[in-house]
Amino acid sequence: MVNRLLDGTAERTTYRGVRSDGPTSEPFSNRLFDVAPESGFIPAQPLAKLKDEFALWERALADAPRVLKLSEDKGEEARAKFMDGERWRQQLRTVSTFPKMQPLETHSITQWPVLDAARLGNKLCVLRRAHLVLTALQHFYIHSLPAQPTNAPIVIPKPLSIPLLYVSGKIDMPPILTFADIVLWNWELVNPDLPVSLDNMRFLTVFSGTETERNFYALSVAAEMRGAEMLRIFERFMNLPCLNERSAIAAVTRDLERLVTVIDEMSTILQGARENIDPHTFYWAVRPWWNGSSSTAPWVFEGGPPNASYDLGGASAGQSSVMHALDLFLDVDHALKQARQPPPSADNRRADTSFMEKMRRYMPAEHRVYLAELAKRPVRDVVLRTPALCGPYNAAVDALKRFRDGHIRIGTLYIISQARSTPPAYMGGAEAFKQKGDLSVAVGTGGNPLSTLLKAGRDATQRTTLRGD
Ligand code: HEM
Repeated sequence: MVNRLLDGTAERTTYRGVRSDGPTSEPFSNRLFDVAPESGFIPAQPLAKLKDEFALWERALADAPRVLKLSEDKGEEARAKFMDGERWRQQLRTVSTFPKMQPLETHSITQWPVLDAARLGNKLCVLRRAHLVLTALQHFYIHSLPAQPTNAPIVIPKPLSIPLLYVSGKIDMPPILTFADIVLWNWELVNPDLPVSLDNMRFLTVFSGTETERNFYALSVAAEMRGAEMLRIFERFMNLPCLNERSAIAAVTRDLERLVTVIDEMSTILQGARENIDPHTFYWAVRPWWNGSSSTAPWVFEGGPPNASYDLGGASAGQSSVMHALDLFLDVDHALKQARQPPPSADNRRADTSFMEKMRRYMPAEHRVYLAELAKRPVRDVVLRTPALCGPYNAAVDALKRFRDGHIRIGTLYIISQARSTPPAYMGGAEAFKQKGDLSVAVGTGGNPLSTLLKAGRDATQRTTLRGD
C-alpha cells in the first residue's frame, strides 16, 4: 500500500499494489508515484524557493558559492575569501558548538536561530526544497571547514542539524545531499511559460561554480528525461491485462524493441560527458563537495537523538531511479541471489552485492515505492513462458550491458585515472598527492573499490541474458 503526501493538499492516496502473477488489480499509474509523463522522476514544475523566515536559509545558500571554497583549496582566491567564509560558517554555529573558536567580529555576525521546521507545513514540494537547501548548506559548511584533526567528528551545528533531521524524517530521506537534491530538484525554468526541458532549465546550486559541474547536472538530467520513455513502457506493461494473448505479446515485443533504442540513446548521452565535463576538474574540484561522512571524519548532528544512525554516503548517479527501474524490469540480479550463468567470478563476489539496494535508501520515498511495485512484475517472468519474447528481451539486456561497458570507461576516465593524477597546484599539487598516500585503488562515493563494483554490475547484467538451450 502506498500512502503519500500530495503536493499542495496533504491529501492521501492509496494504491493497493499489483499481483505478481497476472493483471494488475487496479490501473497502475506512474502519476501515483510522483512520476511525470514527460520528465519521469524530474518534477513537471520546479520547486519554489522557501519563503518567510526560511528565506534566511535561501540567502545563505545563494551567498555560499561566492565565499566558500573546498578546504583543500589553498589558492590565492581561497585565501582571500577565507575570512568571509569563516563569517558565513560562524552564523550557523551556536556558541557552544565551537567553544575554543575565537568569535570573529561577533558584533557583525548574527547567529542563526534554530527555526521551527514544522512551520514549513506538509507540502511535499516545500519539504523537498527544504531538504535540498539544508543539505546543500550542510555540504558547503562541512567541505569548506579548515582541516580538522584526523578522527575528530565534524559537528553539524544545531541551526542546521535540527531542521534537517526534521525535514528528512518527514519526507523519509537520509539527512544528506542526494542525487535528487543535485539533479532532480536543483533547477528553475529559464522561461516559466514554456514546459520543462533541458534547454529551458537553469541549475541553481553549483558548489564549485564550474561549467564541468553544471554540465554534469545537465548530462544527468538529459539521461533522466530520456529515461522517462522507459517509465511509460513499464507503465504499459504493468497494465497489460492478459499476457498470454497474441496482441499483448506483440505489444511487449514492440516495447522491448523500443527499449533498446532508448537505452542506446542513454549510452550516447553518457559518452557525451567527454565533450564538456573535464575529468580533472570533476575529480578534484566538483566531486569532493558531494562526499559523505567517513570513518576518519564522522558527522555528528548537534542536538540530534543520541545513538541515532543515519545513511550518510555521498551523492551519486547510482541513486538515479531510472536505472534501478530498468534493472528491476529486466530482473538484473545484482545481489547474486539467483543461480545464473556464467557463475560470478571471485571479483564479482568480492564486490558490494548490496550496493544497489543501499543506493535506493537515498531516493525520494515515492520513487522507492514505485520501484518496489515494479519489482513485483518483472518482464523476465513473462519471457520465460513466451519463447517469442526471448530475442527482444535479450536485445534489451544487451543494450543495458553496452551502457554499463560504456559507464565503466567513463568511471575509469573520470575517477580511476584521476585518482592517480596530480592535484591542481592550488590544492597543493604533487606534495599534497604524496601526503595522501596510495590512491591507486579508486573508491566510489560510498567507499567501494570502483572498478570491481562497476564490473560486477556489468557482469550481473550479462548474466540476465536468457540462453536458448
Ligand atoms: C561523468 C559522468 C559519470 C561518472 C563519472 C559516473 C561515475 C560513477 C561512479 C564512480 C559510480 C560508482 C558508485 C559511486 O561511487 O557513486 C557510479 C555508479 C553508477 N552510475 Fe554513474 N557516473 C556518471 C554518470 C552516470 C549517469 C548519467 C548515470 C545514469 C543515467 C549513471 C548511473 C550509474 C548507476 C546506475 C550506478 C550504479 C552502479 C551500476 O549500475 O553499475 N552514471 N557512477
